[in-house]
Amino acid sequence: MDPVTSLHDSAFLRAVRREPVPHTPVWFMRQAGRSLPEYRAIREGTTMLESCMRPDLVVEITLQPVRRYGVDAAIFFSDIVLPLKAVGVDLDIKPGVGPVVADPVRTLADVERIPLLTPEHVTFVTESVRTLVGELDGTPLIGFAGAPFTVASYLVEGGPSRDHARTKAMMYGAPEVWDALLTRISDIAAAYLQVQIAAGASAVQLFDSWAGALDPASYATHVMPYSASVLERVASVPRIHFGVGTGELLGLMGAAGADVVGVDWRVPLAEGIRRSQQDAPDGRAVQGNLDPTLVFAPTEVMLEQAAGILDAGRAAPGHVFNLGHGVLPDTDPDQLARLVDFVHDYEPTAG
Ligand code: CP3
Repeated sequence: MDPVTSLHDSAFLRAVRREPVPHTPVWFMRQAGRSLPEYRAIREGTTMLESCMRPDLVVEITLQPVRRYGVDAAIFFSDIVLPLKAVGVDLDIKPGVGPVVADPVRTLADVERIPLLTPEHVTFVTESVRTLVGELDGTPLIGFAGAPFTVASYLVEGGPSRDHARTKAMMYGAPEVWDALLTRISDIAAAYLQVQIAAGASAVQLFDSWAGALDPASYATHVMPYSASVLERVASVPRIHFGVGTGELLGLMGAAGADVVGVDWRVPLAEGIRRSQQDAPDGRAVQGNLDPTLVFAPTEVMLEQAAGILDAGRAAPGHVFNLGHGVLPDTDPDQLARLVDFVHDYEPTAG
């Protein structure tokens, strides 16, 4: 098959379109990263942000886990704060900490100082994606962006936060600033995803990692409209919508305009499937949801849990196997290799 045909008929794209699959597709959030010795080697002496802006490194790092594991999709190597950096926000990614913003956003004037993103800001992304699509030769590339709430949290708090208190205080107490900020971030995220799609990304994932800090009513009122506006602007490709601790939000996250809802490990997949179907008359696919710490258990324990998830996934309109959150840095790559092989070869017992 030529690459175009094999891409269209890949297990990953078939599953997200809710079509029958030859095997359950599998990829891992943070499959490229510190768990891989080849990643640590190539990153030596180069900062995270610099690595994300160098097409040679982005291409190589994105391909590393595809080569090693034979996963069914590649995830573009970048970070959720990269588009902010590209438009000129003063920020850094500190090792072991995460994104740190020099001048946290607190006022309307702070919001208005953040420029909108144009393709010229991210020519290195266009170049990286184009090269990758050629090199991947039929394996789908997933583009991504941070969702408005999660990105707002880094901008408002100035760095990682456990309770997102300042962010939520703005959300509840300064609705005009909040609307301006989330509108601005939505416009940047949509433009950034459109660049990735134009360059050849086959699907996109919107990461709302910290949306689990919200109750459903607050999410529906103060966050969902902005995430929906991003998803609506990238409807030309399949859209995955993922968050952590979002068990109570899965229906809303689907209804925001997702083709696939990412489920973390706290919700049994069968229940995650049920909750994800809100406003989906034709059904909605799910992605997940093995606890990322299970790779530290004996292989047979990990695989038994994986089998349960694969069995549950058969009841979904479509299922993409993944961990419930990103690969942890201490993960043994050989365990993930065994997991990929197991998912690909899995045949459920009859009955
Ligand atoms: O393989 C992939 O999944 C693609 C790469 C990717 C990274 N960040 C690379 C990265 C993706 C999809 C992200 C998204 C991201 N970044 C999210 C959403 C996903 C999630 O995990 O919930 C969030 C919340 C961030 C913010 C962020 N950036 C954090 C919390 C950290 C970790 C800090 C640390 O060092 O522990 C980062 C840095 C980061 N992003 C690393 C990588 C590989 C580690 C930096 C390094 O290797 O030096």
